[in-house]
Amino acid sequence: MRKQIVAGNWKMNNDLSQTESLIDALKSKAQTSNAEVMVAPTFTNLYPAFEALKTTNIEVVAQNMHFAENGAYTGEISANMLKGVGVQTVILGHSERREYFNETDELLAKKVDAALANNMRVIFCFGEELADRKSGNEETVVGNQIKNALFHLESSAFKNIVLAYEPVWAIGTGETASPEQAQDMHAFIRKTLADKYGNDVANSVSILYGGSVKPANAEEIFSKPDVDGGLIGGASLNADDFFAIVNAF
Ligand code: 13P
Repeated sequence: MRKQIVAGNWKMNNDLSQTESLIDALKSKAQTSNAEVMVAPTFTNLYPAFEALKTTNIEVVAQNMHFAENGAYTGEISANMLKGVGVQTVILGHSERREYFNETDELLAKKVDAALANNMRVIFCFGEELADRKSGNEETVVGNQIKNALFHLESSAFKNIVLAYEPVWAIGTGETASPEQAQDMHAFIRKTLADKYGNDVANSVSILYGGSVKPANAEEIFSKPDVDGGLIGGASLNADDFFAIVNAF
């Protein structure tokens, strides 16, 4: 049985006091859920978030990391540093990292390797742009993003990998992929995995959908057989909305 996961990516939002308020609200609403629940605050708020949530079933995860263990990389954060503040899971490859910080498939492959070498779990993001979808190239683009960054891995690595399909045109735009579009792409992703690693691996990897998931559309998206959860941006900044999405399972 694949894990169902709902992760809130807070992006560059919430200072320390806002983080504390949101965590208080999350704690007051947290209840047993079928899904694993995660939140990803900014680097500066990881430790207070971890301390505040360590007795709950909400996991604190990071939004990014560097591939090196340490060294002359001003402004960067390593896997070891994340683990030192209780973080076991990292989001890599978000389209905002690819677009604004020029993260390439090759760089992301190194980051994935570093995270796995440190026994961390990776939520690996990818997704096509609007022009790719309009020209009918969405599967080629997504297939290449997955192959280029992940297909050097041994099949055993996939027990620590969660995939997140986030079509760029649906992020923060209010425009969601239809449940059918999400299902079609998730099925393609699973087939891409199966072709390389076999059905057992493909059927064990959780594939999340991200892009304007809201309480109003979560249930229908999550009802699709290959959609194993969501990576939530804007709606994860509000505890009521976030738990409405978690409880959509
Ligand atoms: P929105 O839910 O705000 O569209 O963001 C999705 C996302 O980028 C999550 O990583």
